[in-house]
Amino acid sequence: MFDLFTPQFKACPFPTYATMRENAPVYGHTSPNGRTTWYITRHADVMMVLQDTDRFVKDSRHAGIKGGAADPINRNMLFADPPDHTRLRALVNQAFTPRRMNAMRPQIEQTAHRLLDQVEIEGKIELISQYALPLPVTVICQLLGVPAADHDRVAVLSQSIISAGAKGLSGRQRRQRMREFVAYLHTLFRQRQQEPQDDLITALVQAEENGDTLSEAELSSMVALLLVTGHETTVNLIGNSVYNLLQHPAALAQLRDDPTRISAALEELLRYDGPVETSTTRWAAVDLTLHGQAIKRGDVVRVVITSANRDPAVHEAADQLDIARPQPRHLQFGYGIHYCPGAPLARIEGEVAIAALLARFPTIALAVPTEQLRWKQGVLFRGLDTLPLTLANPAAQKL
Ligand code: HEM
Repeated sequence: MFDLFTPQFKACPFPTYATMRENAPVYGHTSPNGRTTWYITRHADVMMVLQDTDRFVKDSRHAGIKGGAADPINRNMLFADPPDHTRLRALVNQAFTPRRMNAMRPQIEQTAHRLLDQVEIEGKIELISQYALPLPVTVICQLLGVPAADHDRVAVLSQSIISAGAKGLSGRQRRQRMREFVAYLHTLFRQRQQEPQDDLITALVQAEENGDTLSEAELSSMVALLLVTGHETTVNLIGNSVYNLLQHPAALAQLRDDPTRISAALEELLRYDGPVETSTTRWAAVDLTLHGQAIKRGDVVRVVITSANRDPAVHEAADQLDIARPQPRHLQFGYGIHYCPGAPLARIEGEVAIAALLARFPTIALAVPTEQLRWKQGVLFRGLDTLPLTLANPAAQKL
């Protein structure tokens, strides 16, 4: 038996995943409501599941589940199978071009430095709320083309669809905020239809594939998806990376000595302790047997990405952080048809965030003992609730 839901497990899940890979590579957990979830922990099996879109589906209706994806905001490509997924993804691919993402770099750098300006004199930072969260929120608003004057409002409204932000809201308040958010987006769509700009909302409004465009409902669902996927993950990418560099002073020193290593370092940090613990929900569309386990049609299947990334069958010295590792082929951005379209943007954000922090502060240290740090609960993400740090920049203090 493995308990994947305790704070102790979340503090260090890797030894448990090693045992699962060895002894229970397909591990079933049945919840009190009778639904079984299977956790797949070996790299080879994870790849197989992510590629087999006939037997492992995203739209629960294709696994015989009635009433799935009821919330219109959830009717998006991440919960769709071909041919719906193919169409939605082709439309988003047109808008999510490498050119558009690369063009964001100077703005991302500016935002990172503005956030660091605010904490420089104080000499301390709560990295998650003061840096790792506001940076991707601003970036995704800028990318979409939300006017600067509306950023705060959109941040508040979009929080209601994000797990951490929805905490403390009643169901009614949450639905109310979602309606307000959707109404706001519809106004923006109409404005962009009339007066196109060089932004992602205009690109999505105009995207057309074989005469097909996105409906207003699909557009809001897609923008909501981009807002959610665009921040929950990137927050944890920045938080986990800084935390792990502080835990590995030799790697940190290597990176400080040669800041051009940042891209390679980020890939290894993604592999070693990335922000996505398991894939989103997949459903078994048929009965099947895997490593002797009988998976039934309608069961939930989750691949454990953080485990696959530490699988010794694929990675040498998998439990070691080595920022000089040649091309750590990790699965943090998934694989196959749902491969993360935001990966190039996430990489730029991660690189800029870490590089700016290290460049500004020659000395960075944890402000609390490691044991006091709390990891977020839940199987989907891996990230810290808070990361209090002390920062020293002698040059700034002289000013
Ligand atoms: C470090 C940051 C990020 C990580 C680790 C990450 C990871 C992932 C993973 C693993 C998937 C596939 C999920 C599955 O197959 O179950 C995915 C899908 C997706 N991601 Fe990301 N993501 C990140 C950042 C972003 C950003 C910044 C955006 C957008 C601005 C984004 C947008 C999406 C979308 C739209 C999908 C759904 C694609 C589809 O269903 O075809 N992600 N991401």
